[in-house]
Amino acid sequence: MRKHLFAFALMLTPLLLPAQDMKPFAAASVRDYADEQRDETDPVILKRLDEWQDLKFGFMAHWGIYSQWATVESWGLCSEPWIDRKDAPYDEYKRQYTALNTTFNPKGFNPGKWAKAAAMAGMKYMVFTTKHHDGFCMYGTEETSYSSVHSSCPFFKNKNCDITRALTDAFRQYNMWIGYYFSKPDWHCPDYWAPEWATPDRNVNYSIADKPDRWRRYCDFTYNQIRELTHNYGDIDILWLDGGWIRPAWSVNDETRPWLGCSGQIQDINMPRIAKMARENNPDLLIVDRSVGGKYENYRTPEKQVPDTVLPYPWETCMTMGDSWSYVHNDNYKSTNELIHLLCDIVAKGGNLLLNVGPDANGEIPAPCLKRMEEIGVWLKDNGYAIYGTRPLKPYAKDRVRYTQSKDGQHRYAIYLLDDGEVPPTRIEVDGLVYRIKKKTKHAVVVELM
Ligand code: GLC
Repeated sequence: MRKHLFAFALMLTPLLLPAQDMKPFAAASVRDYADEQRDETDPVILKRLDEWQDLKFGFMAHWGIYSQWATVESWGLCSEPWIDRKDAPYDEYKRQYTALNTTFNPKGFNPGKWAKAAAMAGMKYMVFTTKHHDGFCMYGTEETSYSSVHSSCPFFKNKNCDITRALTDAFRQYNMWIGYYFSKPDWHCPDYWAPEWATPDRNVNYSIADKPDRWRRYCDFTYNQIRELTHNYGDIDILWLDGGWIRPAWSVNDETRPWLGCSGQIQDINMPRIAKMARENNPDLLIVDRSVGGKYENYRTPEKQVPDTVLPYPWETCMTMGDSWSYVHNDNYKSTNELIHLLCDIVAKGGNLLLNVGPDANGEIPAPCLKRMEEIGVWLKDNGYAIYGTRPLKPYAKDRVRYTQSKDGQHRYAIYLLDDGEVPPTRIEVDGLVYRIKKKTKHAVVVELM
């Protein structure tokens, strides 16, 4: 009898718990997705990953309606306490930010110029913000009117109003791989941030357990948008999904649990369904479900960080050229020397560098960025043989030297990093052997090891 009472009490318990303690998707998710925890084993994807690891250097741009304010992308909309709105009252800030679609008209946007600058810099792929957390779509979507192709946005009359298409076409001209940044969370969609309730943090603001249909609608909306991106723009190479607080129960851990905010809800968007659809037309599409782990995070993306040494999986550092992802006035740009060293350091440790710029309200990449891109390109033209298509070589990074080798191991390189403005020495010593340097180079000198 006692045993039965206890069982009854247990059954009741979930009903008595406050919403934040309910994890409605947990049990089902663990069962349904047991498989998803495993890494990718499909040879088609693994081969593509290996090819991606040859590229080493990619172009990223954070560009959206926020660029008009020269402020942080999207985050001003979020009420978490760390966010600085310079004392602006939240409601008014949100109203004005949301209306930025009605003034977005970047007449100076020239996709060919972006692509050329990236190609000259030696970048081999691009990742563009098709939609950030604010939900404004920089592409031709039929799922919402909040986009650059809709008549509510003055840019809709421009021939390049489908910005993603314009960039995709332009970058393809230079044989670059095409990658789309897409935010899983959408703070403009009423099925994510329901307008009936306050939005205390970045997360969905209603109880998924109480309103499963609404959440399902949001999953469908996301699915449909990703369908547009992966079906209407030709052969896409990388789907780069941001907003790691949308994740299945099996992947919630101590580090990511705090992201789930005050409601603590698991937000499972059904990645297996999305991935299957996304690969219908792009069977070797790389999917980067950032920070989630498992099968749909084909490579990892340490943000503004470089690991100390080689990592046992494919990875890419995404790094801002200045301090900010999006355009801000007088950003504090890293020097060309610093950026080249960053690339060498990352490549020596087996990673790729995805270097971000923030184009301005007029659609232009800031001049200091273009200058640095050009200078990096000059260096890579002479020295790229020790970068592209290489693999790490022990001891990877030691003092001022970074090591790489050709994929077949036939050529082994040492890259000697020079200080800003340092005149290269005529000979350098690496591992006890002395190498003569014939060419005058800036930033870093490459020698082939004997
Ligand atoms: C950070 C920022 C986000 C940006 C992303 C790019 O997570 O908060 O706005 O898009 O980095 O990696």
